[in-house]
Amino acid sequence: MKLKDLGEIDTEVVLFGGPYSNLHATRALLDEVARLDAKAICTGDVVAYGADPSATLAAIRDAETDVIAGNCEQQLGTKARHCGCGFDAGSTCDRLSAAWYAYADERISAEDRDWMRDLPDFACFTQAGRRFAVLHGGATDVSRFLWSTSPEADFAQEVEALQRHLGDIDGVIAGHSGIGFIREVAGVTWINAGVIGMPGHDGRRSTQYATMRGGVPVLHDLTYDAEGAFASMQTAGLIQGYHTGLLSGYWPSEDVLPPELRRVSVANGSWVSTRSRRRSSKTWV
Ligand SMILES: [Fe+2]
Repeated sequence: MKLKDLGEIDTEVVLFGGPYSNLHATRALLDEVARLDAKAICTGDVVAYGADPSATLAAIRDAETDVIAGNCEQQLGTKARHCGCGFDAGSTCDRLSAAWYAYADERISAEDRDWMRDLPDFACFTQAGRRFAVLHGGATDVSRFLWSTSPEADFAQEVEALQRHLGDIDGVIAGHSGIGFIREVAGVTWINAGVIGMPGHDGRRSTQYATMRGGVPVLHDLTYDAEGAFASMQTAGLIQGYHTGLLSGYWPSEDVLPPELRRVSVANGSWVSTRSRRRSSKTWV
């Protein structure tokens, strides 16, 4: 278990997950980091579905972003045969992962794999007197899916495991599950910063990240050149379904989501996001 202590951070922090080989989104996020003169912390999965694994990695590394190992880094770093996302066998995610994983695996260098293997499993930092842990999915399982609607007991299990490693914490910054939320739960502020490489399954092209100043997190939309990312995936032959998700705003792998976060059918036969309805009331779930 590797832990990186980032110490006290007085400046603004930009928190984000899942660049997913989406170079267009990564450049937009890093532009925002530079504009804010902020410290950037990534919750992992730098390489996944998109067309530019090597260039995305290079951009993240050149920006001296602190990165936590995601399941994608753990698997690619050790030349594993699959991405280890934690989805069920036979699910849409399971079927679609074969193409992008093989594509990415062929395009990253030995030096990139060395960098991945050297990443910490956890980080911690303090801001405004509050101590935060950073991880990918869960402390008990790097690929654990924790959603805004997950039972409190699931969060409590993870907080307890984190505190065994790190001592007392006031907040947790996580990624992996792909939809951002902030929830006071199990005695901490649990912040899933979302991912920048795919939309938040709400019918919009924008993706998600978070900022934190004074120990207070805020979720934001990231607007970027989604058409450009889509075109790159088409050119690369990555046309199994994630490419259209960039434009539709909906994941092709909806079956990985808990039922309450999936789209629902409406009277005219189309589908809408339960999340976009809630977001209109300014509640992020
Ligand atoms: Fe992940």
